[in-house]
Amino acid sequence: MITIVVGTRPQFIKLAVLVKTFKDEDLKFQIIHTGQHYDYEMDRVFFEELNLPEPIMHLGVGSGSHGEQTGLMLERLEKAYFEIKPKVVIVPGDTNSALAGALAAVKLGIHVFHVEAGLRSRLPFMAEEINRVLVDHMSSLLFAPTETAYQNLLHEGIDKNRAYLTGDVMIDNIIQYKNKIDKTELPVEVESNNYIYTTTHRAENVDYPEKLKEIVEALRLIPEKYGLKVVLPLHPRTKKRLSEYNLLEKLTEHQDVYLIKPLSYFESLKLAKDAAIVLTDSGGLQKEAFVLGTPVVTMRRTTEWIETVKCGWNIITNCNKEKILNGIRKFLDNKPEPVNAVTLYGDGKASQRITNITKKFLEQIGVE
Ligand code: UD1
Repeated sequence: MITIVVGTRPQFIKLAVLVKTFKDEDLKFQIIHTGQHYDYEMDRVFFEELNLPEPIMHLGVGSGSHGEQTGLMLERLEKAYFEIKPKVVIVPGDTNSALAGALAAVKLGIHVFHVEAGLRSRLPFMAEEINRVLVDHMSSLLFAPTETAYQNLLHEGIDKNRAYLTGDVMIDNIIQYKNKIDKTELPVEVESNNYIYTTTHRAENVDYPEKLKEIVEALRLIPEKYGLKVVLPLHPRTKKRLSEYNLLEKLTEHQDVYLIKPLSYFESLKLAKDAAIVLTDSGGLQKEAFVLGTPVVTMRRTTEWIETVKCGWNIITNCNKEKILNGIRKFLDNKPEPVNAVTLYGDGKASQRITNITKKFLEQIGVE
């Protein structure tokens, strides 16, 4: 029996094909939900849409500062582990839930497996970077989504016997759910190729008024300059900050900027696929857009998905208004040459590889 610890939107998404493969291969598992994300649109919607099994425990941790949130998770996860006595815990991604899931486990002598290991931004104070480096170095098995991620692990001295290049489970999802994505209705009335799909939620962007202001100004200028609509599903953190900094109205009053609630997984992918360009600070969405054939402008200083930049599909602009607008202009003038995304991010069999390696490990340590 394997225990999977999740608590945030990107982790629920990473679970989809993985748990399906576990079921197909008779690999027993149970899910613990930390409760880091709790709004319907950030949590339940993914369990319903992706048909995820119900967690056996919900720890109800909720929001808080990093110390509070992670601390409470550690305390409650430790109690949960004492109760259910897992031998192996799997954590996907790089959120506080992944860090707490791993740290509480290793301190009790429980093996940790990390799905999406080895990604690095090289930004030392970025919360997700701290989480992923720590989780990687606590893990008994590390599943890297890309060759770059795999090499990062080896350069950091992770033993070759622990690290595996499996490909990316999010590509498995896109391949597996292709028909559902195609059949999903766009969540807002826009014409294909006539809008920019944008998301922003990173603490290093939205928690700084001057940066958020640059983003808001860029969004307001897009319709005027390029004749495109802007669709922005609002992450709760972003909504809160826009209100605090008196920026929300600047967007709501603009007739060509559509502010909508956070989207379901299929809605988000459909919107990304049909967009002229995706403008985002999300990690996952950058790569999803690229795989779906939509160029990406990334409002960050760097990216963990460096392959998208190398092949000309991703322009890194940080939160600079001029750079954002120039990036969009560049893609509108010239759509990048098609590339084979599958060779960069896997072949849709990452979940199968992870399952096979996991089964072998369980056999070796004598766990059913
Ligand atoms: C977290 C992850 C980030 C991931 C993102 C996806 C960490 C450090 N960060 O950021 O890597 O990309 O999730 O969404 O784990 N809130 C709600 N309802 C919710 C969840 C959050 O209102 O369901 C609000 C709360 O006010 C909270 C704020 O959003 O204070 C931030 O939530 P938090 O879980 O700290 O991090 P995210 O910004 O969501």
